Amino acid sequence: MPAPPAIAIHDITKRYDGAASALAGLSLTVAPGESLAIVGPSGSGKSTLLNMVAGLDRPSTGSVTVDGVRVDRLNETAAAKFRRARIGMIFQFFNLLDDLTVLDNVLLPAQLAGTPSARARARADELLGYLGVARHGGAYPGRLSGGERQRVAVARALMNRPALLLADEPTGALDSVAAAQVRDLLAAVNADGQTLLLVTHDAALAASCASRTVELADGTVARDTHGSVARDAETTAACGTDGSAVGGTGGTVTGGPAPVSR
Ligand SMILES: Nc1ncnc2c1ncn2[C@@H]1O[C@H](COP(=O)(O)OP(=O)(O)OP(=O)(O)O)[C@@H](O)[C@H]1O
Ligand SMILES: [Mg+2]
Repeated sequence: MPAPPAIAIHDITKRYDGAASALAGLSLTVAPGESLAIVGPSGSGKSTLLNMVAGLDRPSTGSVTVDGVRVDRLNETAAAKFRRARIGMIFQFFNLLDDLTVLDNVLLPAQLAGTPSARARARADELLGYLGVARHGGAYPGRLSGGERQRVAVARALMNRPALLLADEPTGALDSVAAAQVRDLLAAVNADGQTLLLVTHDAALAASCASRTVELADGTVARDTHGSVARDAETTAACGTDGSAVGGTGGTVTGGPAPVSR
């Protein structure tokens, strides 16, 4: 029997008061371990779609099932618990907590999940080190540049090695060197079997990390390369990782040397 989909979205609409429909009859099925690039013009519903999958927002109609769970039916507390256990999210505008230091922002998901503090600290140090922002661990996010904040947001999202990673323009604020590091990290995450939903205008990121591209227009799927692009070992290998990046689910906290020096 085939594995149930990681994500099954059926005919969702989303209408905000006094606004045009943000989503207008969108359906999408994502297999476990699949890596999708979501593209489309500004306002086409990309961020709204990620919010629905994360249970941060509810559709007006339709259903959203993640890992067999109807997230559109969860109350706020249950949705938060669900996210904590299974989802990592890199927000378009980072959403770091300004009152916590960088290190505490990154540690927070692990603390909420009950990870032993030494293990959490080792992983946080590793991620922040790999992403070149370890020296900012004691700083507050307000003191960081946009690119530094984005790297902290990436580290936070990967803390708990989520089965599903939702990333909204994860390289949008980064220079080419930092973008390449994040690309390698996300590729390693996906190569390790985690499902990846990646909103991106970064063609290099989409090309190297996604085996399928879904284009949104006016709140619905305008194009889907599903079936026309083979996903195989070569595709994964083309993500440009040697598998030693720190993003994977398996192995120890210290997953070997970083693939890109900082
Ligand atoms: N909370 C909200 N209240 C009212 N309208 C909203 C809200 N959130 C999103 N929208 C509207 O829904 C539409 C889709 O927004 P969304 O943020 O999903 O677009 P996007 O594809 O992520 O765009 P971008 O590429 O600019 O980030 C837009 O027209 C937006 O104004
Ligand atoms: Mg957006």
